[in-house]
Amino acid sequence: MKKSVFLIASVLVLSFAACKSTKETTAVKETLNCGTTAYTLAGDIQPLISSNCGGCHGTKGKKAGLDLNLPETIKTVAADGRLVCVMRAAKGCAVMPPGQPLSKIDVDKVECWVNNGMK
Ligand code: HEC
Repeated sequence: MKKSVFLIASVLVLSFAACKSTKETTAVKETLNCGTTAYTLAGDIQPLISSNCGGCHGTKGKKAGLDLNLPETIKTVAADGRLVCVMRAAKGCAVMPPGQPLSKIDVDKVECWVNNGMK
């Protein structure tokens, strides 16, 4: 009798422990992954922005008055914080491209380039 009570008690303790550990693993915070590559405006960022944003923010569309095919314009919206904000779909920012943000890998690339001084 005593043995079975002990058994039930240990099963309960073990299942609580298991429950706790799954909760902890799902709560892992997303971190910025810059890797070891130094991204450049001409080599990485401009092609990415042109192909994903240039359709609406080009010479023809120029939504919000922005021609994002121009490197100076990319730098301007990067420096004032709007570039990463809209691409992250962060609170208080419009989501860009509208309704379909790019992958975390691509947005990380842009944020790493900004943090690295926009070269
Ligand atoms: C399907 C068209 C479309 C695409 C693609 C698009 N945008 Fe936009 N964007 C808009 C429109 C329309 C606005 C203005 C209305 C608004 O703010 O929602 C805008 C506004 C903006 C603004 C100004 C927001 C502000 O609050 O000042 C920025 C910055 C911007 N877009 C960046 C981007 C970037 C970066 C991409 C690519 C990752 C992108 N957009 C892709 C249509 C688009």
